[in-house]
Amino acid sequence: MEYVLINQSILPKEEAHININDRGYHFGDGIYEVIRIYEQKPFALDLHLSRLASSAEKLDLPLPCPLEELKVLLLALVEKNSINNGTIYFQVTRGVAPRNHLYSRETKSTLTAFTQELASDKQLEDGIQVWLTPDIRWLRCDIKTINLLGNVLAKREAADNQCQEAIMHRDRILTEGSSSNLFLVKDHVLYTHPATNLILNGITRQIVIQLAKNDGIDVIEEPFPFDVLEHADEAFITSTSMEITPINQVKGELTTTIPLGPVTKRLRNLFTNQH
Ligand code: PDD
Repeated sequence: MEYVLINQSILPKEEAHININDRGYHFGDGIYEVIRIYEQKPFALDLHLSRLASSAEKLDLPLPCPLEELKVLLLALVEKNSINNGTIYFQVTRGVAPRNHLYSRETKSTLTAFTQELASDKQLEDGIQVWLTPDIRWLRCDIKTINLLGNVLAKREAADNQCQEAIMHRDRILTEGSSSNLFLVKDHVLYTHPATNLILNGITRQIVIQLAKNDGIDVIEEPFPFDVLEHADEAFITSTSMEITPINQVKGELTTTIPLGPVTKRLRNLFTNQH
């Protein structure tokens, strides 16, 4: 049987109900995290919890319980579902209230969580094709909100063009993937967009930057135009579920092929050793 978490209770999935007046439905008024589980253990749990707290603060959204309590609930759900290799998704919305743009600070937040098993995926090693498209999202992409329309439209557009991920740009400056961060390698130096309001500061991104620096690879966090894709030695995306996935080919506003190279392979090995 599959279990889910609603507020403080772990219930069989079939018994879990969500109120139609939840602000998550009306306004996408909520935040979330996706945490990787390797061999039944959540990876980088504390980093995800602190990013959740930061998203909550930026949105004036009260967390339903202290982070330590949330951690206990999430660990209990992972154990209950005996997830070996997969993810735990959890979200906090601004709770149940009659539909009104104006939110009250008195509404109790809603917490929900579920787990998913992940099958091993060969394209994570072999690489993917990405679709270059304008970034139409709002200006607070640093907040991990459940309001993801710009991201889902970009992902659909990529799939319609036989690509596995969309890479977005604002006025020709590359920002990130629809559900991942973007890195380029040139002359053994790693380049990525700085952690500003225009991207989500991915947990995998943060870990990869640290691993690279510890390994003597220079990392430059600067905005760069998409034309540089044509001259990149290597490129990859990072995320909780895609880990470090090489980019083989870029299509769309620019078309280019990128080889799989030693820096990506080295970082993949270092990352695998972390869990
Ligand atoms: N997405 N940028 C965006 C827009 C994302 O949605 C994600 C993650 C990332 C990478 O973040 P992290 O390394 O912390 O997973 C970057 C998750 C996995 C999702 O929505 O499913």
